[in-house]
Amino acid sequence: MTVDRSRLASLMAEEVARFEAERPASRALFERAKATMPDGVPMLWMAKWPGPWPVYVERAQGAHFTCVDGIDHVDLCLGDTGAMVGHSPEPTVRAISDQVAKGITTMLPTEDAAVAAGMLAERFGVPQWQFTLTATDANRAMIRYSRQVTGKRKVLVMDYCYHGSVDETFATLDGHGEVVERRGNIGAPVDPDMTTVVVPFNDVEALEKAFSSGDIACALVEPAMTNIGIVLPEDGWHEALRALCTEHGAILIIDETHTVCAGPGGMIQRDGLSPDAVVIGKTIAGGIPAGAYGMTSELQQRVRSSIHLEDIDVGGVGGTLAGNALSLAAIRATLGEVLTAEAYPDMIQRATEWTEGVQAALDEFGVPWQVTQLGARAEYSFLPHAPKDGAEAAHADDFELQQYLHLHALNRGILLTPFHNMALMSPATTKADVAAHTAHFREAVGSLYA
Ligand SMILES: Cc1ncc(COP(=O)(O)O)c(C=O)c1O
Repeated sequence: MTVDRSRLASLMAEEVARFEAERPASRALFERAKATMPDGVPMLWMAKWPGPWPVYVERAQGAHFTCVDGIDHVDLCLGDTGAMVGHSPEPTVRAISDQVAKGITTMLPTEDAAVAAGMLAERFGVPQWQFTLTATDANRAMIRYSRQVTGKRKVLVMDYCYHGSVDETFATLDGHGEVVERRGNIGAPVDPDMTTVVVPFNDVEALEKAFSSGDIACALVEPAMTNIGIVLPEDGWHEALRALCTEHGAILIIDETHTVCAGPGGMIQRDGLSPDAVVIGKTIAGGIPAGAYGMTSELQQRVRSSIHLEDIDVGGVGGTLAGNALSLAAIRATLGEVLTAEAYPDMIQRATEWTEGVQAALDEFGVPWQVTQLGARAEYSFLPHAPKDGAEAAHADDFELQQYLHLHALNRGILLTPFHNMALMSPATTKADVAAHTAHFREAVGSLYA
């Protein structure tokens, strides 16, 4: 049951016209901003939002934001997880307001740092933590440490993974199983085959083969893939990954930056996983830049004993602003008072309602797409069944169709993540917010298939 492309084009034209009529203030800002920023945006990927120009934000609070044209939106993107705790939650705002007046960055530790590290240790089960400004940077640090302590060079990642702008991870498999640059990889420093081994998610046989080649310093994985749709792990996958890392002396790094949607200690806590290192970022400080990586005591000792104090500042892991007082105050308040264990059941329930709403429309119109929920996150894809690995999910991508659905949503006051068909629930997201999406989705699917 394919989408009629000429029908899609005329529906899209209607949505573009509606967007243009309703967003003159955003347009005016766009025209002005283009003079000093490419595509009128401070970061080029913001150009990927649907519509002929970006929506400029006036203010955001809880699960909503208002644009400069005065339109209220339900925000189901939530900064692609940076605002999963809702926009500007009161405890985080209070903590950062206090800290701003008391000093933002000194390159000295604060009490908040120890408290925040303790909270992460309790949630993710590894005791030793360090802080960065982004999850990207936390991943970079863990890759460097892994190479340092193992003496090996290569990073094993999943086909179509995303871990931030980490050079080693922009690799995919071609049709012959060879490691190649991921499509769109900008200015790659070297052929990724030199740095990276790529394995399809859930493929234990491929994993075994990859490890047998040797030279793998670490495996960097999300516990469920979340950046190419949601791909859930099959039974035995994590056990095999753990066992092979141990057998081959590779560091197992689990990146929980997105999968913290599954519970307060992510999938590690929920499913009893046992990595050597954990990476997290985005929402832990309520959107104030912060990332973190944690290690087992054993790994931490190996890392620490391999670094001389004299060289500690110029070894390639660092950042003057990393671990600053403001980020740490924000993490302490956000984890301690907002993203608590008590907040999760409601967030997950909202995601269940969203999933059911999507499924109901698919059933009503007999549309062969699927929807997957992972805790407080859910996503539909243009596949008849849940994807098994990243390549399968990637091949189902349909940019034109996605742009239509996202613009349809935006025109009805609903923001979806621009990179995929994902919705995220915050503690502030209400049943009515979800119902608004259900109504839009039914209408949009009906416009294509009824
Ligand atoms: C799993 C995962 N890790 C790391 C990152 C990088 O986060 P940031 O862009 O905040 O550095 C992302 C970003 O989407 C991510 O999805």
